[in-house]
Amino acid sequence: MASKAPTVCDGTANVDAKSSEIDKELTISVITEADTEDVLDLLKRFFFKDEPLNTYVQLGECKELEKYCTKSLGEHSSYKAVNSRGEIVGVILNGTIMKPQPGDEPPEKLATNCAHPKFRKIMALMDHVDEQFDIFELYPDIDRFLDCKILSVDTNYRGMGIAGMLTDRTLEYASQNDIKLIHVLCSSHFSARVMEKMDFTEVFRLPYADYLVDGEQVFDPEKPHVALRILTKRLDH
Ligand SMILES: CC(C)(COP(=O)(O)OP(=O)(O)OC[C@H]1O[C@@H](n2cnc3c(N)ncnc32)[C@H](O)[C@@H]1OP(=O)(O)O)[C@@H](O)C(=O)NCCC(=O)NCCS
Repeated sequence: MASKAPTVCDGTANVDAKSSEIDKELTISVITEADTEDVLDLLKRFFFKDEPLNTYVQLGECKELEKYCTKSLGEHSSYKAVNSRGEIVGVILNGTIMKPQPGDEPPEKLATNCAHPKFRKIMALMDHVDEQFDIFELYPDIDRFLDCKILSVDTNYRGMGIAGMLTDRTLEYASQNDIKLIHVLCSSHFSARVMEKMDFTEVFRLPYADYLVDGEQVFDPEKPHVALRILTKRLDH
């Protein structure tokens, strides 16, 4: 098992390798629009297949998820872990969400115009969570937050703390941009573990066994992924 305590120094992390093919030198840097194809390549090889809900529905190709993943890259608030061969081995994709103002049209439900039947099921779950949990009600003094939308690490590089390094860089971005709250919706037990290790607090939990549509359980991912959880971290407390 690889060391779980890599050292990070000026954007370069020395990670004990699991095998000789895995680079020890990783650089964490900002993602720009020029990285779009490489980011999608990583996500299609891993996230589209191994995020617990995607695995459960056997998502396959999904242009709608590609669009969701890439739409905030222009904010330059997302980060990549790159090995010495220049390959992206992990990403955190973030986007800023503003508090709705009085008189704003209610946002359209995510599932409404989703043409991909499997992805629509996942979007309907997100709509359900939105109905159950209002972050701006929980934090009335907050007018925007940074949403960590996607977290994905190459399977060969897991368990080394790379997701934590990407989250650390995200926290740095937030504090430099006067964003006081980070929000992560964790469909995976492992991403929730990452956030717990970084002192995030759980503010919402929906066991998959309790999400029923027409009386039927919709998602039953493999253990240990038993619940969808929202974790947050305030930077001003
Ligand atoms: C979630 C994810 C990004 C975590 O990345 P990571 O860099 O491996 O994170 P960490 O090294 O901090 O490990 C987090 C947890 O993963 C688990 N883990 C450790 N080694 C692992 C390995 N080799 N393979 C899989 N999971 C492992 C452990 O439970 C670990 O928690 P612990 O440190 O308390 O034991 C990664 O597992 C992933 O890409 N998963 C698939 C996509 C996904 O589900 N994304 C999140 C959706 S919300």
